[in-house]
Amino acid sequence: MDVKIYEYDAVIVGAGLAGLAAAKELTEAGKKTAVITKLHPLRSHSGAAQGGINAALHSDDSTELHEFDTVKGSDYLADQDCVELMCSKAPETIRWVERMGATFSRDEKGDIAIRPFGGQSKPRACYAKDRTGLAVLQAIYEQASRAGIEVFDEWYAADLLYEDGKVSGVVAYDIRNSKPAIFNAKVTMFATGGHARAYRFNSNAHANTGDSLSIVARHGLPLEDMEFVQFHPSGLGGSGILISEAARGEGGRLYNSEGERFMSKYAPNAMELASRDVVSRAIMEEVRAGRGVGKDGQSVNIDLTHLDPEIILTRLPELRELAIAFQGQDMLKEPIHISATAHYSMGGIPTNINCQVRKSPTEMVEGFYAAGECSCVSVHGANRLGANSLLEALFFGRHAGENMVKALDEGIELRPAKASDAKVMLEEVNRLLTSNGKERVSKLREELQNGMTANAGVFRSKESLQKQIELIDELIVRYRDIRIDDKSKTFNTDLQEAIELGHMLEFSKFIVVGALNREESRGGHYREDFPERDDEKFLKHTYAYMDKDYNISIEWGDVVLGKFEPMERKY
Ligand code: FUM
Repeated sequence: MDVKIYEYDAVIVGAGLAGLAAAKELTEAGKKTAVITKLHPLRSHSGAAQGGINAALHSDDSTELHEFDTVKGSDYLADQDCVELMCSKAPETIRWVERMGATFSRDEKGDIAIRPFGGQSKPRACYAKDRTGLAVLQAIYEQASRAGIEVFDEWYAADLLYEDGKVSGVVAYDIRNSKPAIFNAKVTMFATGGHARAYRFNSNAHANTGDSLSIVARHGLPLEDMEFVQFHPSGLGGSGILISEAARGEGGRLYNSEGERFMSKYAPNAMELASRDVVSRAIMEEVRAGRGVGKDGQSVNIDLTHLDPEIILTRLPELRELAIAFQGQDMLKEPIHISATAHYSMGGIPTNINCQVRKSPTEMVEGFYAAGECSCVSVHGANRLGANSLLEALFFGRHAGENMVKALDEGIELRPAKASDAKVMLEEVNRLLTSNGKERVSKLREELQNGMTANAGVFRSKESLQKQIELIDELIVRYRDIRIDDKSKTFNTDLQEAIELGHMLEFSKFIVVGALNREESRGGHYREDFPERDDEKFLKHTYAYMDKDYNISIEWGDVVLGKFEPMERKY
């Protein structure tokens, strides 16, 4: 088959906040840039972020306090140099996107409105009602388009051109007609977002299948801290759809089936505004103790009926609509059922402070960058603060763009690609289209997701994690024997879902092996058999590598400490 070869200065995979921010910088600097994305940019999952984006804007707050909260929230696993950079640049980042046209809600003085979020000493989540991500995404998409970015939407990037420690683009195919192409570039960036769809109960978009993680790992490159998955306390019971932390920020209260405001037992000072890891565990403890609500007893109540209805109608309109549409519950009139939902990955493709991808804890890959949720620059450590993800994506996306411009200006040669570089992707596509095995994609995916939720979820143990590794190994073998029904080349979503499942199986193994290896509890990783944090042994980053037989080996990387000494953290 003919393989078209495009040549660019920069190729970016992913068109959410991080990808668009980088593309805008590169294009404005005159660099020929292509953005490749499975979805139209405005359908990226960044647009689903609801509650806010953090910045210390007000005079009673400070960027140093924001840093402290972020490091403490991370259970001291975040790299403090990166946290300092992000938090110190947060106010400027908000002004930057506001000037682009992001429509933030205003307070009574006309300033950008802020609301409290969990685990933070001050209210600092700047918001646009409960559609903050969408407001920011729209603004940056408009300005990136104005700058002239070239978007290849409904294209699926399935392989990386990696050789001798250098990346020179990606291999992709056009979802419309399955035609392959190589995007050959001097610099390449991954900004593909999250992967919580590995869990049955999750808040993520259908597209969040973690493709880039497995693509990177198949080349023997490491993934960092994958065991740290964030469970958001408030997913709609039954579906996991996000009910923003803004609901608790605006005063929502959590109750169990006995009408007890149970956070008083788990975090008597912070109550519902403790960090997400703490609140999610509290909810699951209540459910396990038989004090859950809902048909299956797997949820708790969040009650907002004591609030002035104007607050709900003007600041949380989308949340109200979601709860009515998906659960038939109107938060103006009654409590709604929520439960902890897989939401975010603190780990990902390791990068240094300039967003350059690491080949090992100490070596870099030439010409390769990553930012946003798929990456691990490590500003979130073991637990992310709500409203720091939009900030991370926007700030580090732009920062990656600036660093790529710098690298290009310093002079990077294009390593020319050949049509045969598409061989691995083409063979896999062909295998999936022609295979007549007996296994079905949806069945294997369901088994993976159920297992991840049951065995590698909010609570984990050696036994549950070993069980999950056995299950994943079995699923990887069965995956070789799948059959898809649609054999066509036109918008073949069967094919795409099959490729995505392969990715999900592989990166899920990183989550589970990392969790088994980390015999302590820290942030979002809670081991029932090792309930304490163990700084002596585990104040370290996990670097995990996969071999051709899907075995995973682990080495440790140093955490960049700084002015905040690790202290006991309750909430
Ligand atoms: O709850 C929320 O609005 C989610 C925000 C975030 O994950 O940062």
